[in-house]
Amino acid sequence: MSLDSQAVETLRWSNGRLEMIDQRILPTRFEYLPYGSASAVAEGIRSMVVRGAPAIGCAAAYGVALESLVLRQASREAFGTGMETGFSILAASRPTAVNLFWALKRMRGVWEANKHRTVQEIADLLLAEAHEISADDVRINRAMGAYGAALLPDGARVLTHCNAGALATAGHGTALGVIRSAVEAGKHISVIADETRPFLQGARLTAWEMVQENIPVTLITDNMAGHLMSRGEIDAVVVGTDRVAANGDVANKIGTYMVAVLAQRHHIPFYVACPLSTIDLAIPDGAAIPIEERAADEVTGFRENQWAAKGVRVRNPAFDVTPAELVTALITEKGVVNQPNRVDIARLFI
Ligand code: MRU
Repeated sequence: MSLDSQAVETLRWSNGRLEMIDQRILPTRFEYLPYGSASAVAEGIRSMVVRGAPAIGCAAAYGVALESLVLRQASREAFGTGMETGFSILAASRPTAVNLFWALKRMRGVWEANKHRTVQEIADLLLAEAHEISADDVRINRAMGAYGAALLPDGARVLTHCNAGALATAGHGTALGVIRSAVEAGKHISVIADETRPFLQGARLTAWEMVQENIPVTLITDNMAGHLMSRGEIDAVVVGTDRVAANGDVANKIGTYMVAVLAQRHHIPFYVACPLSTIDLAIPDGAAIPIEERAADEVTGFRENQWAAKGVRVRNPAFDVTPAELVTALITEKGVVNQPNRVDIARLFI
């Protein structure tokens, strides 16, 4: 199926339920899966039907709204108990992307501010809030895109890692949003997409998004980035993030740290597209960011095609932390923070 970027609706509300593109099977197949409860959405997040920090946050918000709709005929007491269970199940779905917890907090705020209303009214307000979180996300990505586009020179060859595109958000993308906005502004940008082992978000998702829009894209395996940088074939790196600590340390897909070290070695700017919802002021530095460990069979092979020796010990951390000193700038919806540090990050929230 051929699609332009506007048609990539990672999540959509349809006939009283949530539908999400099944990102596990892209780009071979393009299919939406339906969701009707908090536990179903939590399973969709856990199993990577939906992934990418902002998209996970939007999905969780809809999970809460769906649960309130399921419970709207219940007594006030049963509604309260059922909602608490829904919040807990969603909060346990994945640990690293703080947007999940940010969205749940926002939904809880709506619930708590409206507890005096009828259960039906609360359900309506929660659904409206979930829609608002998604609409805000697109607006924020466009704002980041405009700030970030100004940093990329015409003709830039931009390396990105993982997928921080429309598929990782409610639309436009964070890192790929910067690239899209630069292209919309008339700049000639080409993308070098890291494959992103082991889940292949770069090969399967970033490459697909760029191909859909005719933005020139070259796929490389993760271990080729240093070679290309050493040959002067990369002008900038732009990545997304799952959680930024108060001091500017950046958690993102495993392998990002390696790219940042290489970028510094080769004097290539390393930019992080980062909505404020991804900054966690409660976390002092990167060492305290919870890092998800995923199943061994992602490393020993790919799905049913398993190639490593049976019985081998495996590590599979899904994210790593890039220290703030390696980050040239955070691109936020409130502007660009050069050489991110505690003071300038705190100022974003004033
Ligand atoms: O494991 P994933 O696919 O959810 O990891 C996604 C990333 O690491 C993205 O770079 C990050 O969430 C930013 S998405 C705008």
